[in-house]
Amino acid sequence: MKANQFGKKGWTPDRIENLDGKTFVITGTTSGTGFEAARILLSKGAKVVMLNRNPQKAANTIATLQEELGKDIAVSAIQMDLGEQASVKKAAAEVLDTVPQIDALICNAAIAQVPKQTLTVDGWESQMGVNYYGHFTLQALLFPLIEKSKGRIVTVGSMGYDMGIKTIKFDDLNWDQDYTANNAYSQSKLAQIMSVYELQNRLKEVGKTDVKAYACHPGASRTSLIKTSGSLLMRFIFSLMTPLTQSAERGAYPQLMCATEKDLDQEEFYGPTGRSNWVGPVGAHKIEPHAKDKAVAKKLWELSEAETGVQWNL
Ligand SMILES: NC(=O)c1ccc[n+]([C@@H]2O[C@H](COP(=O)([O-])OP(=O)(O)OC[C@H]3O[C@@H](n4cnc5c(N)ncnc54)[C@H](OP(=O)(O)O)[C@@H]3O)[C@@H](O)[C@H]2O)c1
Repeated sequence: MKANQFGKKGWTPDRIENLDGKTFVITGTTSGTGFEAARILLSKGAKVVMLNRNPQKAANTIATLQEELGKDIAVSAIQMDLGEQASVKKAAAEVLDTVPQIDALICNAAIAQVPKQTLTVDGWESQMGVNYYGHFTLQALLFPLIEKSKGRIVTVGSMGYDMGIKTIKFDDLNWDQDYTANNAYSQSKLAQIMSVYELQNRLKEVGKTDVKAYACHPGASRTSLIKTSGSLLMRFIFSLMTPLTQSAERGAYPQLMCATEKDLDQEEFYGPTGRSNWVGPVGAHKIEPHAKDKAVAKKLWELSEAETGVQWNL
């Protein structure tokens, strides 16, 4: 294992300088790592635009953040349900209308381990629809503003990318055959990660190297993820694993690093570098070759543009 570029303790938010004048757009900030990332960015003086599906939860989140950090923090919320393409398109339009710059778009929100095959209103398996297609469309629509801002796109993946069938099931993307919660979640996270490296390739090909795209994951962090969408059994299994996990705050470090750290190598994969990549100092670590399979990534990208009807023009 190579040495951590940030030293023994790995990357921590102490490295973030004053973020006055910077704007971060984050999906899913009502709990978990997204909430912690928003809190830390605001505490450093950044402006944060939160994209959440539940307006009441978003309002409560703002109240909680203001209670801790003061009334004058620059936080706002736009309603967006990643599981509905119409909602994603509406939210993206509102961002483009009201937000003058995006230094980083952090694609953090997700659902996980959905016990039974469920389809989104657009007809996709729910984890693929929310985690992957929702963010694919959001990124494409916000890309012009991110490009104008010389900003970044940060994708929060999961070590789950390596726990399913390790490729994209093109002949049965919705898992009409053999649905399992784990395989479907894993595919959505693999798709998210593959699209980061495919985006890098496409940006390089057209010389748009001012925009950076990063893939990271939070390890195993104590958040609401399994409570929100997992089965009772899955919740029980995850509760047994609690002693092996880390705080939601630590889980936010990789995405914070990818959103703010200067001169970070895009080709790496970032997350905790300790036991099983669940916990430990944050830095770059190994990614399995199937996540960087260019032929699969290209096919997925083309399919995604056709499925969503959204073009990146890259
Ligand atoms: N926790 C872990 O150990 C772990 C491990 C690997 C990867 N991850 C990844 O880490 C990221 C953050 O998850 P977390 O663990 O912090 O979970 P979390 O506490 O459940 O937070 C997930 C956030 O996503 C939002 N969300 C869910 N569905 C949405 C939708 N359709 N539209 C918009 N927002 C939606 C949730 O909003 P609501 O409040 O409305 O539900 C919540 O704000 C995810 O990408 C997840 O895959 C987590």
